[in-house]
Amino acid sequence: MTRYGDYQTEIYAGGLAGHLPAQPVDFASLERKAAEVLPSWIHSYVAGGAGDEHTQRVNVTEFQRWGLVPRMLNGARDRDLSTELFGLTLPHPLFLAPIGVLGLCAQDFHGDLATARACARTGVPMAVSTLTQDPLEDVAAELGDTPGFFQLYTPDDRDLALSLIHRAENAGYRALIVTVDTWVTGWRPRDLNTANFPQLRGYCLANYTSDEAFLRRLPANPAENPSAVVGEWVNVFGRSLGWQDLDWIREATDLPILLKGIQHPDDVRRAKDHGVDGIHCSNHGGRQANGGVPALRMLPEVVEAAGELPVLFDSGVRSGTDAVKALALGAAAVGVGRPYAYALAAGGEHAVAHQLRSLLAEADLLMAVDGYPDLAALRQADLRQL
Ligand SMILES: Cc1cc2nc3c(=O)[nH]c(=O)nc-3n(C[C@H](O)[C@H](O)[C@H](O)COP(=O)(O)O)c2cc1C
Repeated sequence: MTRYGDYQTEIYAGGLAGHLPAQPVDFASLERKAAEVLPSWIHSYVAGGAGDEHTQRVNVTEFQRWGLVPRMLNGARDRDLSTELFGLTLPHPLFLAPIGVLGLCAQDFHGDLATARACARTGVPMAVSTLTQDPLEDVAAELGDTPGFFQLYTPDDRDLALSLIHRAENAGYRALIVTVDTWVTGWRPRDLNTANFPQLRGYCLANYTSDEAFLRRLPANPAENPSAVVGEWVNVFGRSLGWQDLDWIREATDLPILLKGIQHPDDVRRAKDHGVDGIHCSNHGGRQANGGVPALRMLPEVVEAAGELPVLFDSGVRSGTDAVKALALGAAAVGVGRPYAYALAAGGEHAVAHQLRSLLAEADLLMAVDGYPDLAALRQADLRQL
């Protein structure tokens, strides 16, 4: 069993040898650093959310409403953070939520590849967005043995959707995460005020421009007419999915299917009726709909409705402590979002690896101190509302 908390000892030992960590371990410092180094148009796209960003803020503050009561003399010397997800046994419950434009957060604009390398180093699974700077096959190749999940924005062209699904399968992804809350973009004032939308400038479309089914939609010689690529992407990007669409997606692949963007327990029950393998409870970090409830508030009801199905969670996770609280509320795995995009901006692959190790160390040490030796114990934890 990996003792994730030992990363703390490594950091202190480095200090004795005169080495300070190159990057901070806490979110607030990382956020400040990213704001300093990212070009403003990329920073605003990553940091911004829908409307006045109230939902985005309460996603984060909701975690502060919960407190874990420690249990002592509980034999938590060795912690087992492992979790089961649709046939996969993972050594710990952290994963990276999909972030389109991740590519642009690295100075060389190949951030999807750098992040995948950080995942390979830390064993943290990566959910890879449909909107990458490098094709999904190239990202998968950097992941090595670490599992990747492919996140699908279902295009309004079934041939293209099927092609993306089959490419993901062939590239070795271990699950298909179908995002259901983003067939149209939410109202995002930060980006609107600067008329800034990276995909419309031709970025992060590599999975489309590398796809035969997409290329067939373009006029001859698209290289001579880059605006045709963007125009066709706008035409095809978002399918307003209905429940019946899950049936042909289900038929198209043997990969486990998860729905991302589910918050209502009735939607969980309908998803189960359509044969999904997992639920991804999320409100897209408050980027899509403002005026909603924090995603964490819905998690217990979603978990209850999901029953045996694993529930992945993201939206507002900023620390290992947050991850532990989401696990105690029933998540089978916890997704990190903006924090790793900021780490990537601050220091590339090494910074992402450092941050993931820090999150795991914090979670592991909290479980040690609070006397919860594994996820089953955490699920029974005495969690109080503040
Ligand atoms: C810049 C940015 C781009 C995102 N792109 C995608 C995407 O391509 N697909 C997707 O399903 N979710 C996307 N998300 C949502 C994340 O997967 C996740 O739900 C969200 O970041 C969680 O909120 P948090 O980062 O505030 O914790 C994106 C989020 C951000 C911040």
